[in-house]
Amino acid sequence: MRYKLILDVKRGDFDAAGEASRKIKDILQQLGVSSKVIRKVSIAGYEGEMNLAIHSLGGKIILEVGEEELSLTIKDIGPGIDNLDLAMTAGWSTADDKVRQMGFGAGMGLFNMNKHADNFLITSKIGAGTKIVMKFSLE
Ligand SMILES: Nc1ncnc2c1ncn2[C@@H]1O[C@H](COP(=O)(O)OP(=O)(O)OP(=O)(O)O)[C@@H](O)[C@H]1O
Ligand SMILES: [Mg+2]
Repeated sequence: MRYKLILDVKRGDFDAAGEASRKIKDILQQLGVSSKVIRKVSIAGYEGEMNLAIHSLGGKIILEVGEEELSLTIKDIGPGIDNLDLAMTAGWSTADDKVRQMGFGAGMGLFNMNKHADNFLITSKIGAGTKIVMKFSLE
């Protein structure tokens, strides 16, 4: 393991929104990760961070950088997702009007995380929380 970082994301903290993904981007630049990989990780990280702030009760983003790949784990303490197939569908969202007025709620976040990660795994349990593990090859 070359590098590990754990960042907290609070529920509803829109002032701090984007800070965790910006920090991850800075660190990957310092580590000399290619801009192509940084772009994919940044998009996926930002979507994950916003989902924690908007939909979860709070959670963590864990970045682990190895020699050949890096992983981004995004996990929260609830409320969990009832239907993962539906949640993964482009355009499906439970965001309310307030969230939509802030420019979120297109229902594209999970779809784009899956698209940009080389490997994407989501597990969720109602009342327990959601965990997403994304892997990116450093090529
Ligand atoms: N961490 C989470 N905890 C609980 N529910 C979630 C979580 N992440 C996503 N969801 C649910 O899955 C739906 C789809 O998420 P997705 O990120 O794809 O879209 P969105 O956040 O609604 O809109 P967008 O990401 O385009 O702004 C959400 O509307 C929400 O119902
Ligand atoms: Mg989202």
